[in-house]
Amino acid sequence: MNSELIHQNDIINIIIYTFTAFLLMALVLILFFYFSRKKIVQQEVEKKNLEIAHQKELLHSIIITQEEERKRIAQDLHDDISSKLNIVSINSHLLKTPGLTFDESSEISTNIFNLTKKALDNSRRIAHDLLPPVLEKFGLHAGIEELCVEYNSNKLINASFTSFTELDKINSDKQLNVFRILQELMNNSLKHGKAKNITIIFESNSNLITCKYNDDGIGFDMNDVKNQKGLGMKNIESRISFLNGELKIISSEKKGMQVIFSF
Ligand SMILES: Nc1ncnc2c1ncn2[C@@H]1O[C@H](COP(=O)(O)OP(=O)(O)O)[C@@H](O)[C@H]1O
Ligand SMILES: [Mg+2]
Repeated sequence: MNSELIHQNDIINIIIYTFTAFLLMALVLILFFYFSRKKIVQQEVEKKNLEIAHQKELLHSIIITQEEERKRIAQDLHDDISSKLNIVSINSHLLKTPGLTFDESSEISTNIFNLTKKALDNSRRIAHDLLPPVLEKFGLHAGIEELCVEYNSNKLINASFTSFTELDKINSDKQLNVFRILQELMNNSLKHGKAKNITIIFESNSNLITCKYNDDGIGFDMNDVKNQKGLGMKNIESRISFLNGELKIISSEKKGMQVIFSF
């Protein structure tokens, strides 16, 4: 009778211990899932925060670029147009001066003619800078060809361009963005890279267009912060994000630079 009671107590103890062990294991599992889930959420939040900070930085650079562009246009208008029109206006008043000789009035008229022509040329140039007419009239392909011709004309650099895809079918806002990206890249290759050769190749695969840009200049260390400060590269990034595209830059010192972007 006594030994049966002891046996029963043992069974109850085993059940209690097993139950407690299961309970503890369940608790440990719950805690483990809770904390690992918390960590994943935390990592996601950190990633999102980084993305937001990057977007903010891009937005900031867009605003700065816009302001600089406005300042430049205002300066161009002031220096190249307003000042000339001012002199035209003064000259026109001079024409009314009584008793002018034929020679004097003809000199004033020539002045007015020359200044008006200069103001007209300048206004055309400013408009062309804002929206290159070749893009509007003939599309991106012709625009890039013209860009290469302009760069090749100074004999310092040889730019070549090949496209295996119809660039002119891209919508015109996107064309302007691609054009501006290439303008900045070429400018950098000449200014910073001291490159001798530039190649631009466009390819397409299903709906994705890829541009491969290369220069054989001095290249740069991409990890050096001084190379990450420029507005030009930030601008390129924001244009790529406008294109819903992706950008890859490969460069190291003395090895030229390669930029691949798809959109
Ligand atoms: N093609 C290149 N070859 C060598 N260095 C380059 C090239 N492109 C950019 N860089 C480096 O990256 C920096 C940032 O370029 P960018 O953002 O265009 O600024 P910015 O042209 O206004 O100086 C440059 O100052 C230069 O050091
Ligand atoms: Mg630049």
